[in-house]
Amino acid sequence: MPLIRYIEHDGTEHEQEVPVGWSLMEGASKNGIPGILGDCGGSCACGTCHIYADESWLERLPEVDEGQDMMLEYAVDRRPNSRLACQITVTADMDGFVARTPVRQHTE
Ligand code: FES
Repeated sequence: MPLIRYIEHDGTEHEQEVPVGWSLMEGASKNGIPGILGDCGGSCACGTCHIYADESWLERLPEVDEGQDMMLEYAVDRRPNSRLACQITVTADMDGFVARTPVRQHTE
């Protein structure tokens, strides 16, 4: 099971094994990791699962589609590596993937 490193804005790290096929959002919310709310349950409709994706992985992640782009417009401090955690499905080769969480989600 891939080990995902969730790092909060203050540097607090949470290492969490996440099953292949789950989203990064599920990996956080189902394990009590703070910083990712996931209010819509993963249907790309709330924008409260904003993360900064591991820079070294950007080329291997799916493109930001129109729906995700619209939701990211609400994100606090959007950056080039901003993604929605519910739109990234964990794969076996993501062991060690780093997902940083923003200072806050836009609804906080
Ligand atoms: Fe709502 Fe990701 S959980 S957009």
